[in-house]
Amino acid sequence: MMDNDRMTKGGFSEGESAPQHQNQYDTKLLTPTKENLLIAAREIKSGRLVGMPTETVYGLAANALDEDAVASIFKVKGRPADNPLIAHICCMDQLNLLARDIPQLAYRLAERFWPGPFTMVLDRCSGANSFLTGGLDTVAVRMPAHEVALALITQCNTPLAAPSANPSGRPSPTTAEHVYNDLYGQIGYILDGGGCDVGVESTVVRVYADRVELLRPGAVTVSEIQSVTKGRKVMVAKGVTTAVEDEVCLSPGLRYKHYSPKAKVVLLEGGYGDFCRYVAKRAVNSDSRIGVMLFDDDERVLDLPYVTYGGQTDVREQAKRLFSSLRALDSLDVDTVYARFYKDDELGLAVYNRLIRAAGFEVVTL
Ligand code: TXA
Ligand code: MG
Repeated sequence: MMDNDRMTKGGFSEGESAPQHQNQYDTKLLTPTKENLLIAAREIKSGRLVGMPTETVYGLAANALDEDAVASIFKVKGRPADNPLIAHICCMDQLNLLARDIPQLAYRLAERFWPGPFTMVLDRCSGANSFLTGGLDTVAVRMPAHEVALALITQCNTPLAAPSANPSGRPSPTTAEHVYNDLYGQIGYILDGGGCDVGVESTVVRVYADRVELLRPGAVTVSEIQSVTKGRKVMVAKGVTTAVEDEVCLSPGLRYKHYSPKAKVVLLEGGYGDFCRYVAKRAVNSDSRIGVMLFDDDERVLDLPYVTYGGQTDVREQAKRLFSSLRALDSLDVDTVYARFYKDDELGLAVYNRLIRAAGFEVVTL
């Protein structure tokens, strides 16, 4: 059996250090053994929070049915109260604790995509408290595919509310170390399930009796959803690829600035030759320190600090490495980062959706 606390403060690679907070806890990373799952479940049953691996990103988990516990998630993340959370379930029975009048179409989608990176927004029932739902009449529910997440929910015997385990506005965590660095001192335990397979958060859809609307793109793509809706077109919510105003919008999360590294990020749309010419000009003419975010296969033409995040058309790899690459930008010590991007209608849409938020919607066409 492995140690309960194999890593405590100070065990991180160069450039990474635990942030300074009023430390209430000496946060421990737990290997997901049976004993440690019991420790994590006990923590959650006592109304406290635990860092939990999922196949998409790490979540900050609490008992979804415990209002005070859910409220403390908002406090730790610094999250606006009107941005609701996703409840994570381990079996279909738990769906009935949260939602009512569930359309047949939702069951068909669940059969196809659960467990997996797919979240359905449904009409809420009284079990879904208003902290969880951000005061809306709907509730977001997902059955994750990660075995540690499923084991923890099963052990707790209650749905778990779990937003991404990052302070609001910062890139989502895809390793236990990311969570540790972001939330050291604020939570007691993080279950370490290794690196996340998918790397971007789940697809979020609003499901009606006869149609589906995409609120956030993820690894389950529009064409896959359409294979279940039998050709009926999936509508894409305003805000998925463009900025939305402060108006009431179907998915509150779309309104907020997100995923921001310390440097300003600008996306450049065009070929690599044009990219290099544009950036080289600015590197000479500007006082600001410039870095670049490239594809693995881009030749290193520019003599500037850089990170890479996957091959040019390898969107799976891009999704997997996106958030850790955005985090790595912080150690480049630059003011502005020009980024390459690739966009398609499948997983590339999910990567683009995160990148334009990291860039505050600043896209320059070359
Ligand atoms: O992959 C994921 O979904 C990760 C892991 C931990 O499961 N969780 C996650 O949670 O990304 P969070 O809180 O970072 O994002 C939840 C998104 C937000 O954009 C929120 O606005 C939206 O889901 N959402 C939640 N409840 C909603 C509702 N009732 N109606 C519309 N959108 C909702
Ligand atoms: Mg998030």
